[in-house]
Amino acid sequence: MKIIYTENYEVMSAVTAQLIAAQIYRKPDCVLGLATGSTPLGTYAELIRMHRSQNLNFSKVRTVNLDEYKGLSPDSDQSYAYFMRENFFRHINIRPENTHVPNGLNPDEDAACSCYERLIDDLGGIDLQLLGIGHNGHIGFNEPDDTFIMDTHAESLTEKTVRMNARFFERIEDVPTRAYTMGIGQIMAAKTVILIANGADKAETMARFAERTIDPHFQGSILHAHRNAYVIADKAALSILIKQAPQLISNR
Ligand code: GLP
Repeated sequence: MKIIYTENYEVMSAVTAQLIAAQIYRKPDCVLGLATGSTPLGTYAELIRMHRSQNLNFSKVRTVNLDEYKGLSPDSDQSYAYFMRENFFRHINIRPENTHVPNGLNPDEDAACSCYERLIDDLGGIDLQLLGIGHNGHIGFNEPDDTFIMDTHAESLTEKTVRMNARFFERIEDVPTRAYTMGIGQIMAAKTVILIANGADKAETMARFAERTIDPHFQGSILHAHRNAYVIADKAALSILIKQAPQLISNR
C-alpha cells in the first residue's frame, strides 16, 4: 500500500481521476468499482470534465458500486443508485445497462447478495476499485467487527454511521439501518484499489494507518496487505499521520 500526499481536495481529486482515466485508456472495457459519499464527488466532476474536453470514452466501461441501502428504490433521491446517476453517469457516455448497484429493493438478503456476487464474477472481477473511508474506518459499508467478512452481505449500520450519513436525509429516522455491501474479499480481489480521504475531520481516521496492523476494527487496514493499493489523501486528512509516521507517506 502506498500513501500519497496531496496539497488539497482539488489535487486529490485530479490525481485520482487521472489514475482512473489511465485505467480506461489501458483497458476501455474495464470494470470500475465505484463509491459514493462526498469524498469522490470531485473525482467524478474531474472525470466528467475529461470526458467533455478530452473525449475520455466510457462507452465500453462497466461499473459496480460498493453498496446500497436496503429498502431504498433506485429512484429514491437518497439511494446510491440515484447518487451515481445524478453525480456521474448521466454526464458521461456510459451505457446505463453497464452500471450496477446492489438491489436495495430485494428484501431477501441472501438472494440480493449472491446475485451481486455472481454479477461481479460474470464481469470478470474488478480492475480498479475506488473507496472512500468512514470515520470509523469502514470501507463500503463494512463496519468495524471482530472479523473481515469476505462476501457481499447485508450489514447493520453502526449508530455512528447512521448519524454521519443523516446529513444526506431530511431526518435521522429516515436513514436506513441496513445496507448491502461488497465484502472485503471482493474489494481485495480488485487489481488496483484507490482509497481517497480529505479534510481535517478524517485526520484521526487516517492516523490509524500508522499502526500498520491489519485489524477488522479498522476495516481499511486490510489495504496494508494489497499489492496495488493507493491511499490518496489531502494535507488536512494526513495532518496527524504525517507527524506520527512520515515514512509511510511515499512522496514526502
Ligand atoms: C458511506 C459510504 C462509504 C463512504 C463513507 C464516507 O458510509 N458507504 O462508501 O466511504 O460514507 O463518506 P464521505 O466520503 O462523505 O466521508
